[in-house]
Amino acid sequence: MRKTIVIITLLILIASLAFAAKAPSLPKYQKWEKSVRKVVNDKKSLFYGIHYIYADPKAIKGYKAGNRFPEGSQVIVEHFNINASDSSNDGSKNMIVLMKKDKTQKQTGGWLYAGYTAKGKASGLDPVKNCFECHQKEVAGRDYVFSGIADFQPKGAKQ
Ligand code: HEC
Repeated sequence: MRKTIVIITLLILIASLAFAAKAPSLPKYQKWEKSVRKVVNDKKSLFYGIHYIYADPKAIKGYKAGNRFPEGSQVIVEHFNINASDSSNDGSKNMIVLMKKDKTQKQTGGWLYAGYTAKGKASGLDPVKNCFECHQKEVAGRDYVFSGIADFQPKGAKQ
């Protein structure tokens, strides 16, 4: 009897965890527009390391409109470790994050936020505490997006 209760409790726990992790599966972003290589040397920064931003065609329209993004826009960041012995080559991939414009996500400014492991598995980060609070504090006036079209134009073009 006790064993059954334990098993049922465990099953409920597993089901609720699966339900809570509602991050969508990662879109195929490799062919989207890719930003210049961005290096952050500040070890205290969340983005310490190397990253690239990928934007789908809708998001590129949003960047071109001065950061006003249409519904469905998707932006991804791929993070890599710094390769200590060879700074011109990236180290191993360590994280992927996604923002998708979704008007049902009222708690997070109309964007869905999700974090993934290097292999693309949802990492169950809290979209409000781990993501939105920072984007909201810093760039609410830019539709919560830090980067701009200039990040996709390596030849020094201004936004
Ligand atoms: C402490 C602040 C902070 C937190 C927390 C944070 N971000 Fe960001 N995020 C940034 C900064 C700064 C950039 C710009 C990086 C650049 O310009 O290269 C950024 C960029 C992004 C971008 C590219 C679009 C943009 O805004 O330029 C996405 C997508 C993104 N973050 C998603 C997330 C997700 C998902 C989480 C939570 C798992 C998260 N972020 C947590 C500060 C933060």
